[in-house]
Amino acid sequence: MPTDHVRLWLTVALALVLAIATVSYYSRPSSDSVGVQSPGELLFLSKGCTGCHSIQGLATTGQIGPDLTSVGEVAGERVQGLSAEEYLSQSLATPQAFIVPGFEATTAGSMPDFDLTDGEVRALVDFLLEER
Ligand code: HEC
Repeated sequence: MPTDHVRLWLTVALALVLAIATVSYYSRPSSDSVGVQSPGELLFLSKGCTGCHSIQGLATTGQIGPDLTSVGEVAGERVQGLSAEEYLSQSLATPQAFIVPGFEATTAGSMPDFDLTDGEVRALVDFLLEER
């Protein structure tokens, strides 16, 4: 019967359309594919850092702590004798060890100790070192 043929072809055509739609959906460039998010960036966004800190180019509006857009550049000059990496690790593991000039009076907003694991500190430091 001709109608059976029509139905078969319609089914095949529909399956094809669905297959093409699925493939193009999953291969589309996603809006945040500019760089795949690193573990450190994900931690930065999920740990509440953005409530106090801003980084240009990230969806962040925090104003209480210093802007971290160029922290990878300044970190090496904050404390004499500490490399950028050492300084950043310290500022995450023991935030009160060094207070960024200009933020001494920020009692209400002073940086909390997040009890981060060594792995979390390392991931965050790697991420922050790239911010320059
Ligand atoms: C409640 C507000 C608050 C939160 C939340 C917070 N910070 Fe801070 N942060 C501060 C303040 C205030 C300072 C400056 C005072 C100081 O040096 O401790 C600071 C300083 C820093 C510095 C040193 C910056 C520099 O220019 O030397 C780094 C790095 C940093 N924070 C990273 C983080 C990360 C990563 C998180 C999330 C795990 C975070 N902060 C969460 C308030 C906050």
